[in-house]
Amino acid sequence: MAKEPPSDCVGPEYRAKDEKPIATVSQQIPHTNVHILPQTPQLIALLTMIRDKNTDRADFIFYSNRIIRLLVEEGLNHLPVTEHTVNTPVSGQTYAGVKFEGKICGVSIMRAGEAMEQGLRDCCRSVRIGKILIQRDEETSKPRLFYDKLPEDIANRWVLLLDPMLATGGSALMAVEVLRSRGVPEEHILFLNLIASPEGAKRFAEKFPKLRVVTAFVDQGLNEKNYIIPGLGDFGDRFYTNI
Ligand code: URA
Repeated sequence: MAKEPPSDCVGPEYRAKDEKPIATVSQQIPHTNVHILPQTPQLIALLTMIRDKNTDRADFIFYSNRIIRLLVEEGLNHLPVTEHTVNTPVSGQTYAGVKFEGKICGVSIMRAGEAMEQGLRDCCRSVRIGKILIQRDEETSKPRLFYDKLPEDIANRWVLLLDPMLATGGSALMAVEVLRSRGVPEEHILFLNLIASPEGAKRFAEKFPKLRVVTAFVDQGLNEKNYIIPGLGDFGDRFYTNI
């Protein structure tokens, strides 16, 4: 008799149960402000490509960009809309729809977060994008703000904060503090991220309960060097350098 597949199977019901592929899907996090993308076969296949150490740089960029696009589209679903009715070209016909309310901007945490800027531009034409550089201070080993360039009116914008990997959360937490110090309300920040550690996601969600995290996957944990496991290695190195 065919074995019942485990509950973490993915794939639409197009095959006999015993032929369905099995894949590891994201952990769930008990925080309502962490939104994990639906674990569809497509997303899992894209993540499989970028996690594979044998994937070359061109493919890494291509498949990362596809996931970034999904994250941006989901992030945009969290922005407020108002009712907006339009006249269609068909005589006398109207459509009761919605339109986005308010201004947005992107803020990338350098350097890996810059890889997500194009995905945001592809969805939001001529979007303003700011940057924050945070690095570990050699003396104190704590994250330190080295540079920021943010839109002057950022306090009046919804901010899509971009960083592909949420490991310990140190840099991202500091980036949020910088945004708050410029007057951005916590509830106007959406943090878009490809892979999170459970530690990082929980820390972030608890420190900023009104901020929303949109991630593609919550992984198993961190290793002794604070790399996410199983992870994908160093995102910035794989995106920006030919190794
Ligand atoms: N940054 C990365 O690029 N990879 C990790 O695993 C953790 C942080």
